[in-house]
Amino acid sequence: MKIKKSISLFLVLAVGTVYAYAITPGQKNKGKEAQIIENASVQIKKMADEIEKTGKILSPRTTDKNDKTVYVVLEEWTSGFFPGSLWYLYELTGDDNWKKLGIKYTEGMERIKKFTGNHDIGFMIYCSFGNGYRLTKNPAYKEVIIEAANSLSTRFRPGAGIIQSWNANKTKDWICPVIIDNMMNLELLFEASKLSGNNKFREIAISHANQTLKNHYRDDNSSFHVVDYNPKTGETRHKQTAQGFADSSAWARGQAWGLYGYTMCFRYTKDSKYLNQAEKIAQFIFNNPNLPKDLIPYWDYNAGKIPNEPRDVSAATITASALYELFTYTQNKKYKKYADTILKNLASDSYTAAPGTNGNFILMHSVGSIPHGAEVDRPLVYADYYFLEALKRKSDIESGKGLKLTDF
Ligand code: GLY
Repeated sequence: MKIKKSISLFLVLAVGTVYAYAITPGQKNKGKEAQIIENASVQIKKMADEIEKTGKILSPRTTDKNDKTVYVVLEEWTSGFFPGSLWYLYELTGDDNWKKLGIKYTEGMERIKKFTGNHDIGFMIYCSFGNGYRLTKNPAYKEVIIEAANSLSTRFRPGAGIIQSWNANKTKDWICPVIIDNMMNLELLFEASKLSGNNKFREIAISHANQTLKNHYRDDNSSFHVVDYNPKTGETRHKQTAQGFADSSAWARGQAWGLYGYTMCFRYTKDSKYLNQAEKIAQFIFNNPNLPKDLIPYWDYNAGKIPNEPRDVSAATITASALYELFTYTQNKKYKKYADTILKNLASDSYTAAPGTNGNFILMHSVGSIPHGAEVDRPLVYADYYFLEALKRKSDIESGKGLKLTDF
């Protein structure tokens, strides 16, 4: 018994030392931010340890009703977020152990560069290999990014000028559905264009962004979720939702994808229409009477039972990260203030999980898809990823370095 106790005490001290060590070197943040990063490091270290024990490349996504981590196959759209989070922790802490894990879990998903089953390869490859290349300049990663851009380009439909998100669906009468989320995949194309010198990727991205601006946005600057096209003529056939409350409603994560997407399009093109669109989306979000005071939205701005509806923390973290970038282009301090408020509120006990709980995800209270009954009021790997990205962007801005989103 005594021996067991001593061993336990040794383990607690040893593990504590490892965690303390993990967040000390390179830790330039002080005070509250340092605590948030320390907490995130402890949680994701536990998550990584669990995965390492299996000896497999696993892709954590959410938790089940018993709070156990749920893993998904690498072909799921969320597979790039865990490797991406490892890269952000490496940047936030300077600890090489995160880099080693980042390399391992990024390289473990290389086969995804050939994935053409839907549009999500942009999320998958850019969050993993994109961040990996940004931080290591490994030339093999560059080749993966270019090959992935080629894979994504196979879904471009020149007659409509868009990238087809999902395959046709007879039950829904969709021939060529495009979802607002697809704006996020354009980052892969813009970067691949720079890396390869092949302008085709950039032209596809610009065409998609323009068509989406024309067909997805309503007069109040909210966005439809799904627009179905005739791929030959570009005529729109349906404007609907798959994950929102109603076809005419504003699904919260969709508004966040649009805000992030158009801000990013301005980064690569300097075309003011994209910046204007991003500002209009921000206006829609922050002037919305249904946005709670703590700025963490309900899962849909028009959900039927507000205020008795689940929040979607993932929409909040995507929004915060986008707002830091929008702030750098506009110098409008209100964007940074909104983002700071979101991060501060997420760092509270209301949203941040106690270490060792929540399947070792950092944040609680996201929503995957209420219409599908999936991941309702659960942690989500992408909520954590954009939280870490937002923390990194905040730190870059406040240290005076400015945002260094790419330096390829
Ligand atoms: N891209 C899928 C989602 O946002 O749920």
